[in-house]
Amino acid sequence: MTEGGGGTAGEPVYDRIGRGYTAQRVADHRWQAAIDAALGDAATVVNVGAGAGSYEPADRSTIAIEPSSRMIAQRPAGSAPVVRGVAEALPVADATVDAALAVLTTHHWTDAAAGLAELRRVAARQVVVTWAPEVTARFWLVADYLPEIAVHEATLATLAAVVAGLPGAEVSTLPVPADITDGVLGAHWARPEAYLDPAVRTSISSLSLLPGPVVERAMARLAADLDSGAWHDRYGHLLGRAETDLGYRLVVAGSRRRVTAG
Ligand SMILES: C[S@@+](CC[C@H](N)C(=O)[O-])C[C@H]1O[C@@H](n2cnc3c(N)ncnc32)[C@H](O)[C@@H]1O
Repeated sequence: MTEGGGGTAGEPVYDRIGRGYTAQRVADHRWQAAIDAALGDAATVVNVGAGAGSYEPADRSTIAIEPSSRMIAQRPAGSAPVVRGVAEALPVADATVDAALAVLTTHHWTDAAAGLAELRRVAARQVVVTWAPEVTARFWLVADYLPEIAVHEATLATLAAVVAGLPGAEVSTLPVPADITDGVLGAHWARPEAYLDPAVRTSISSLSLLPGPVVERAMARLAADLDSGAWHDRYGHLLGRAETDLGYRLVVAGSRRRVTAG
């Protein structure tokens, strides 16, 4: 890890970049359904790197763990109780929850191996959303405009690290619907103009953590290509698709056996 994502020392990254998160990052119902299915009949859940509460189960006994007070402040009224903490040292006793959930957060952890070991220590089952960076590297925004993202992402704890930390894990694809509501990096693959909006980019850590001038230059090129029709010449064929694979993956490990009576 290179960015000190919110670990045990210093200001949590999302205290800096988390402003307006809930406006851009609305849980997508198709991803929610996949995550709910992966949680199975778990009655008790710890949501690690919970942020503002996206994908947090409403119908199970849930506790959220999150280091950033800016993210905690954006949790809606009535969401699960939250404890300020980090994955690397979960304030949860051994084998006391049915499932641990970690959505798009492992890449921010200071020590992902330690965090994943913590998920295994506290929960019978682990459900993680991450991505395969070699697939993301082929996404037009990365391949043609911001290859710096691929360079940066190669240093992060994504799919390979998650699978290494969760022995026996099963991996499935989370396709990105053309109308996905969660503004992840790949969300706007079929609405390229969206990336020109700084408010959209702020809630995408792969963009907001790159040097500003690098992103500004790339966005100027994208704007010019949209104006000239060059983008549509190259990528217009994508626009009829309902969904595409940009590398997002659902990783499920551990046992379906519940440890709580729930
Ligand atoms: C992209 S957000 C995802 C939030 C939420 N899971 C979601 O899907 O919207 C990443 C979250 O991971 C949190 N985070 C960063 N470092 C962490 C750590 N070491 N342990 C736990 N969470 C961490 C950030 O503060 C942020 O809220």
